[in-house]
Amino acid sequence: MVNGSWQNVAAATGLLGGDGRPAPTIFARMSALATQTGAINLGQGFPDTDGPSELLEAAVTAIRGGANQYPPVRGIPALRAAIAEHQRRHYGLDPDPDTEVLVTAGATEALTATIIALCSPGDEVIVLEPFYDSYAAAIELAGAVRRVVPLRWPEYRLDADLLAAAVTDRTRLILINTPHNPTGRVFDTDELAAVARIAQAADVLVVTDEVYEHLVFTPHRHVPLATLDGMADRTITISSAGKTFSVTGWKIGWLHARADLVDAVAAVKQFLTFVNGSPFQPAVASSLLMPDDRFASIAADLQARSELLTGGLTAAGFDVRPSDGTYFVIADAAPLGYSDGMALCLDLPGLVGVVAVPVQAFNDDPSRPSSLVRFASCKRPDVIAEAARRLAGLRRADRMASARPT
Ligand SMILES: Cc1ncc(COP(=O)(O)O)c(C=O)c1O
Repeated sequence: MVNGSWQNVAAATGLLGGDGRPAPTIFARMSALATQTGAINLGQGFPDTDGPSELLEAAVTAIRGGANQYPPVRGIPALRAAIAEHQRRHYGLDPDPDTEVLVTAGATEALTATIIALCSPGDEVIVLEPFYDSYAAAIELAGAVRRVVPLRWPEYRLDADLLAAAVTDRTRLILINTPHNPTGRVFDTDELAAVARIAQAADVLVVTDEVYEHLVFTPHRHVPLATLDGMADRTITISSAGKTFSVTGWKIGWLHARADLVDAVAAVKQFLTFVNGSPFQPAVASSLLMPDDRFASIAADLQARSELLTGGLTAAGFDVRPSDGTYFVIADAAPLGYSDGMALCLDLPGLVGVVAVPVQAFNDDPSRPSSLVRFASCKRPDVIAEAARRLAGLRRADRMASARPT
């Protein structure tokens, strides 16, 4: 077996198999199950429809127009200007497109390059659990240490006392994610004010992952942490075009922050991917400048699908927390007699032909069982309706099982 830091990364993300070999992610396992069984895949968070046609056309035009070689390492000027303009128009933030904006290979690279650039071995990074799996991997690659603050079902509110207690003199970064994957929470201004207060008191930087910024449901509102008093200078704001415009495969992400922080992250980024997505960059630039009502209709459309899924899960007998935003809905399988969401997810394709992912995959210790399961709502309404029809069979299967003589 090859030794190296891959083993630390695999262990940190729960991907080191018992035989010491790398194990596939839960997303890959569940998607493989969906393919094998023909089940509806509500596991992995990718849309089953394409984004706005003018966005797709703009990329085709860019390819035909010759945008096929390396772009500038910080991103093409038109995209950096569009990101700055987007932040100004939507949030009143005012990053300098030349010095305070960096285009990256998705939010994933922005997160990884930021953590590697800003952490030294032994530094601590506070993460909110459950968390997106790349956080643990990036922290491990940097030789840094995770400090975990749990968000608790079903409210999933940020507990300011727990966050304050997690800060030590080794804390380098607080990493938050709002709107939040997998819980579907959108943090409110009280929660964000607590983060700001704690970060300022401890003099630490905050990384905010805002990839679902436009997928927020009425009456909730996305507030970037950088807009809070005193936070613009200590926040690294990360986002991506993938979720907003249903182009997760394009991997066009970005961050903005103080110029010296952007310089540090760019120094690492140039040796991770250097650059990516030449023809996608101008296309994303024009879409970021779409009028407000287009963004609102993207959110409203997803809200309708999320509500459809929530209704289907409730009718099937799950306890459901309606989401404030994002691609996801979390449901508790305990009322259906499943205390182990992993076991349910392994059974679900065979039982009713639907795939979901267990929330325990997003926990610091992914082997800790939980009855919570994440379903993706970013699918066509007819697909969600069919999944709901199938999931209703769970309740019937449950009743039949309890009627069976034991
Ligand atoms: C919370 C969160 N952050 C980051 C990412 C990665 O974004 P990208 O595809 O732009 O790298 C995802 C994708 O699922 C996510 O859910």
